[in-house]
Amino acid sequence: MGKLKEAWKDRDNQYKYAKWLMKYSKPYMGRITLMMAFSIISTVVSLWMVQISKNIIDNATGGNKFVTLLIVYFCLMIAMQVVGIVSTLLSAILSEKFSFGIRKQIYDKIIRSHWMDVKRYHTGDLMTRLTSDAGAIADGIIGTIPNIIILFVELLMVFVTLFIYSPLLAVFAMLVAPVAALVSFFLGKKLKKLQIKVQESESNYRSFLQESLANLLVVKSFANEDYSVDRLTTLREERFKWVFKKTKMSIASSTVMSMTFQLGYIVAFAYGAWQISTGQITYGTMTVFLTLVNRVQSPIIGLAQQIPRVVSVLASAGRVIELQNIPVEERLPEVVTSDKIGVDIENLTFGYTDEIVLDNVSLNIKPGEFVAIIGESGIGKTTLLRIIMSFMGNYTGKVDFFDENGLTDPANANTRRFISYVPQGNTLFSGTVRENIRMGKLDATDEEMWDALKLSAGYDFVKELPNGLYTVIGERGHGISEGQAQRIAIARAFVRKAPLLILDEATSALDENTEKEVIKGLQQLEPRPTCIVVTHRKSILTYCDREIKIENKNMEEIQ
Ligand SMILES: Nc1ncnc2c1ncn2[C@@H]1O[C@H](COP(=O)(O)OP(=O)(O)O)[C@@H](O)[C@H]1O
Ligand SMILES: [Mg+2]
Repeated sequence: MGKLKEAWKDRDNQYKYAKWLMKYSKPYMGRITLMMAFSIISTVVSLWMVQISKNIIDNATGGNKFVTLLIVYFCLMIAMQVVGIVSTLLSAILSEKFSFGIRKQIYDKIIRSHWMDVKRYHTGDLMTRLTSDAGAIADGIIGTIPNIIILFVELLMVFVTLFIYSPLLAVFAMLVAPVAALVSFFLGKKLKKLQIKVQESESNYRSFLQESLANLLVVKSFANEDYSVDRLTTLREERFKWVFKKTKMSIASSTVMSMTFQLGYIVAFAYGAWQISTGQITYGTMTVFLTLVNRVQSPIIGLAQQIPRVVSVLASAGRVIELQNIPVEERLPEVVTSDKIGVDIENLTFGYTDEIVLDNVSLNIKPGEFVAIIGESGIGKTTLLRIIMSFMGNYTGKVDFFDENGLTDPANANTRRFISYVPQGNTLFSGTVRENIRMGKLDATDEEMWDALKLSAGYDFVKELPNGLYTVIGERGHGISEGQAQRIAIARAFVRKAPLLILDEATSALDENTEKEVIKGLQQLEPRPTCIVVTHRKSILTYCDREIKIENKNMEEIQ
């Protein structure tokens, strides 16, 4: 009973996935239909050619009719080639467009969703869904589904033709159909489970690959090379295990089908031979028999072979829909327009899990204030900033941005327009220094960037770099020092000139003098932003208007 229930629930899901696929594929339907039309034309023409070849054989004694038939046959052959070329081109273009279309939609969705919800997935897993799963869906919609429809139409046409020649043979050839249907039905569900396992193991494998390459230094520092290679092998073997199981199941089904097919062919052959010997049919009709029996069975086998592919598409669609179901970040209408911004936090309670990190805290930061947040490691400083940044939404209490005119905006994805943020850790991208700084303000001029670098104490060292602003740095600032990377990250925030500046231990890798220079630069920013600075350094505190300490899930003002 439980199993039955589960199957029914699964059916519901399949329907949901199929509906999503239909909706997504709608804009491509015209072109997919055109592609199918080409295929069906090919089938019609080739059936016609079978007829002609029969006539050619039966008229082999020569004469005008024989020549005409040969010419017609030849012309049709050329036409078939042309249709083949056009449809191959069309399908290549369509498949590129479709598969990028679906990837773009998933990517778009990921970057517009709540950061916390997306962060639950490993980057490697997201990559697998974006590439492998999206690819399986594209192959399915462009290849498998149209193929199934074409095979059905083909089957019908061949069957009717065969039926005209010999109803008995036609019915016999169709005996393969129930075998195909039965095998597919029983293997379909199992195959889907295996396919999900294959994709999951692919995700694990990619996650490990991506992470160990990104942290190569750690792998080498601890002499983990052998371990890493072994681990990669284990993960690959895990994937291989599932792929192998899936392949075995596919082979089992195609063997059953192929045997049935061979049997049908032999019977048709024997039946035809007997009819020739008794003079009931011509050699031409015999040729038609054998060709058509072959042709009626191959679409049936083809249909059965599509089943594992449909299963793969549905499995991948499920994994992609899971991402599609993550809620998109809320964007509220923009009310505050002033460039003097304060933050009002009231009765804020938050925990990533059941464990509370901040318990009923309140803090009012007035426009123009310079506030330092201190507290021991792991106490919730970064968490507080993330809430101000609206990276997390599942808190209770109120977080508002306000200006001097009394207008307020509750924190949401749109209020990030007020903020320049320097996150904790190295957050540079590979590319030029200029590209990195420009992320703060996409239309910034070189002059603006140099100005920002002057204030972030980065001017001198960037000037010294071989290509200045155009110097290429590697992933996560590879090629420059940690402190230099921090100063570029600060310049990226400065160039934005937002009314609220948030620094999360942004000067932790700087020496005291350079840090002082950055703080002085910060105070020269025009217009002067409201500042929230998380720090462990006592030296910064002398420049601050207020000092807030987070302790015991609470906040307290240090006088
Ligand atoms: N993504 C997360 N999921 C669950 N717990 C988290 C997450 N990020 C941080 N934490 C926990 O929240 C607490 C506060 O972390 P954080 O705000 O980063 O501390 P810090 O004051 O050092 O910046 C820590 O106990 C940490 O373990
Ligand atoms: Mg922190």
